[in-house]
Amino acid sequence: MQYSILLLFLILTALSALVFTFVFISSKKVGISGQGLSNPLQKRFWFLLILFVVLGIFASVTIPRSPYFLFADEVPARVVHVAARQFAFLLSDKAIDPENPEGKDSIEFLANELVEFRVTSLDVNHGFAIYNPSNRLIAQTQAMPGYVNRLRWKFKEPGKYTILCLEFCGMAHQVMRSSFTVK
Ligand code: CUA
Repeated sequence: MQYSILLLFLILTALSALVFTFVFISSKKVGISGQGLSNPLQKRFWFLLILFVVLGIFASVTIPRSPYFLFADEVPARVVHVAARQFAFLLSDKAIDPENPEGKDSIEFLANELVEFRVTSLDVNHGFAIYNPSNRLIAQTQAMPGYVNRLRWKFKEPGKYTILCLEFCGMAHQVMRSSFTVK
């Protein structure tokens, strides 16, 4: 599904580039003289061509490395359900019932196992940001009411990881946090 959307996006990009190129080539004005780079139209053509090639290379190298494809072809060893609400995170191994939301007091993972977080919100938009034991942000997604966002990660370093909200969500946004342990 993600790959077909990406493919569609790339095809549309190529099509719009073709349209622009066609308009650009067919709109050449007559009467501007000069050969090679002394001709402003020639200069512009080469500038745009080089620009498109550089951007194309950049996009084709970076897009496959975007976090959306991380561990896409692996089966997660653990699935953790996350429900964010003002002003706490509930984490559970089982699906969380929005009518009677309950989370576990503590969650533990093994180092290097693939964990999938299924993140949603019970009220407003929140952030779900994971910080490693040295308090560096390593992964994050949005917690949105009505949506489940999946975040996959392998925690290499054992220790206590902190979850912070990265979206201003109300008066006590800054105290909204949770944690888990990697053994
Ligand atoms: Cu939840 Cu800020």
